Amino acid sequence: MVPFCGYCSSSLFVPLCASLWLFFPFLISENLFVAVFRWSPGMSTSETTTRRSLLGKIWVGLGGLALLEGVWIVTDFLKPRKQLGTDEEAETLIVAGPIENFDPGSVTAFQQGKFYLARLQDGGFLALYRECTHLGCTVPWIGAEERFVCPCHASVFDIKGQVLSPPAPRPLDTFAVRIENGIVKVDTSRKLKRNSFSDSQVARS
Ligand code: FES
Repeated sequence: MVPFCGYCSSSLFVPLCASLWLFFPFLISENLFVAVFRWSPGMSTSETTTRRSLLGKIWVGLGGLALLEGVWIVTDFLKPRKQLGTDEEAETLIVAGPIENFDPGSVTAFQQGKFYLARLQDGGFLALYRECTHLGCTVPWIGAEERFVCPCHASVFDIKGQVLSPPAPRPLDTFAVRIENGIVKVDTSRKLKRNSFSDSQVARS
């Protein structure tokens, strides 16, 4: 039986590893003690005392190591992993740019995140996921007609993503938009499905 001696993050293994470490020194000292007595049947009383003392020190040393290991494992296990969450957010938060870069009534395509940033005539912003809610085809923005037209089955959507012509069953999905210090940011970590347009979906500065 060999105890754990490296990094361990699984909740299933932590108690097992710690218990093995606590139990292992006991096994070593017991086996050594038996072996020493077997190999030296004629030893004197002082030799016996010295060896017992040595074994006792080894036992205490290993026990101390096991205790430290256990404390380290438990501390590491309980430590929050904030860095991972920060990295994930950085990957899904798209910085679209300053507000003034987007004219009212314009639609700008963003490859990363697969969305269109629509700026409505009143200055509000909507981030529209580019996949059709019928069967998932990519819907292009037809600037001259000021609408999205799906090339697959001809669904039509307006600048707010509302269905003007079926078979699409509901408006285009959206992403949350936030405006911080005049910069438009789009959180693409979660698509927001909707059955109709409402003003609460629009982000304003
Ligand atoms: S996939 Fe767009 S209308 Fe069918």
